[in-house]
Amino acid sequence: MNTDKQKIIVFDTTLRDGEQSPGASMNQAEKLRIATQLEALGVDVIEAGFPAASPGDFEAVKAIAQTLKKTQVAALCRANEEDINRGWQAIKNAVHPRIHTFIATSELHMKYKLQMEPDQVLKKAVESVKLAASFTDNVEFSAEDGSRSDKDFLCKVFEAVIDAGATTVNLPDTVGYAIPEEFAQLVRYVMENTPNIDKAVLSVHCHNDLGLATSNTLAAVTSGARQVELTINGIGERAGNTSMEEVVMALNTRPNFFPYFTDIDTTRIFPTSRLVSMITGILVQPNKAIVGANAFAHEAGIHQDGVLKNPMTYEIMKPETVGISKNNLVLGKHSGRHALHTHIQEMGYNLTDEELNTVFKKFKNLADKKKKILDEDIEALINEGVLRSSDVFNLEYIHVLSGNTVYPTASIVLKINGRPVQGATEGSGPIDAVYNIISKLTGTKSELLRFTISALTEGTDAQGEVTVRLKEDGMVAMGKGADPDIITASALAYINGLNRLEYMKTHPPIEPASL
Ligand code: KIV
Ligand code: ZN
Repeated sequence: MNTDKQKIIVFDTTLRDGEQSPGASMNQAEKLRIATQLEALGVDVIEAGFPAASPGDFEAVKAIAQTLKKTQVAALCRANEEDINRGWQAIKNAVHPRIHTFIATSELHMKYKLQMEPDQVLKKAVESVKLAASFTDNVEFSAEDGSRSDKDFLCKVFEAVIDAGATTVNLPDTVGYAIPEEFAQLVRYVMENTPNIDKAVLSVHCHNDLGLATSNTLAAVTSGARQVELTINGIGERAGNTSMEEVVMALNTRPNFFPYFTDIDTTRIFPTSRLVSMITGILVQPNKAIVGANAFAHEAGIHQDGVLKNPMTYEIMKPETVGISKNNLVLGKHSGRHALHTHIQEMGYNLTDEELNTVFKKFKNLADKKKKILDEDIEALINEGVLRSSDVFNLEYIHVLSGNTVYPTASIVLKINGRPVQGATEGSGPIDAVYNIISKLTGTKSELLRFTISALTEGTDAQGEVTVRLKEDGMVAMGKGADPDIITASALAYINGLNRLEYMKTHPPIEPASL
């Protein structure tokens, strides 16, 4: 079907560059779940992490490498022997391993960050690729800050690393500085001035500092790039990376303009976006292209009228194409386990029997309080019941007294590593009281940087969804919680944030400076 079109290789770096978003660090089980979802989505390569960064990263990459069957699993390594050896140890059992090594090639980075001469950088790049190629024939080399590098030096480095065994050469716009036309010209220059470029795939990796990551990536594709490096929801350092859903849907929606295809199953885009948002706690802005809550909402009467007559009047894509179910109204009190299971599968989640039992129990509890259970509710139940199974702190009981004539008081029972602890205290308001006692019981001293609350669905019986941002010892973590009782949702979000901080204490996140 796609014989007249060229394939674009989709390289997902949600678990590596995406994880470098402030507060987005994930534990091994969470990474594994995202990796499995990305494989089902049809991603060609998953950058599972940076094994030399921490023992936690190493273990997570190893677990992903051992689990995935179809997708290539890449490990990021700086251009040195230790990183590459460590990276290989993490991925050597993968069905399709890839070593991804990188070094900066711009004058600015070479002079100030690396304090190396261009010839030394070239030598290191070649040695590193040779070492990587001694382990596997699937080696990617990235010229960090490539878009601000001298064009001819860039081509010289690419030529040398391809000779040394690199099968993919990646041109990153590390600081999101490029402009689409200029980036397209650079890609064309590299294609025309790297004599052996036909022996490798040219890849691009863009950051979104000027909001141009998607445009730059697409411009690069039209100039010859055949691999694109992306993250779900565009998460990543600073303003983020190129968003997978935007690039894939641009190629998909404009086939006459872009004679290319990807192997992405677009109907899994929305569930994957929700999963990443739930796990990382990074909310998707409502007006975000493709996956934002308003991406397919038509408020203006004239638009609604047009869409009713023919959806194509104002919709360039169908919501179903990206996996947004039209039939959101779903289950209730009388729905059984089988109906819940079928619906969860339709939403794009694969749960084990045990996980389904946990979610079903929570579903029944919620159905006692809320008449109509919608997709958003079910996602929150999956998040609470399944994705957080390895937590240190768990909420067992909460009772809060508040009103305009009493001192707000909270009584809490927590389980800390399975051991119950309880206590009660006051606060200036009910949430303050809850957070005070949780902080005391857990012995944590985090600062609450941000607290937001919104309704997950319509109606006064909706679940409140709370997102918090916590800081402790210089580490920042997000937390999320949902419940029809907003005080309970607030407690759950706080506890989720504390669990993330706990994980970060034992698994320090990658320091951007170390890249
Ligand atoms: O942005 C960047 O340059 C990177 C490289 C490590 C590929 O993330
Ligand atoms: Zn990057």
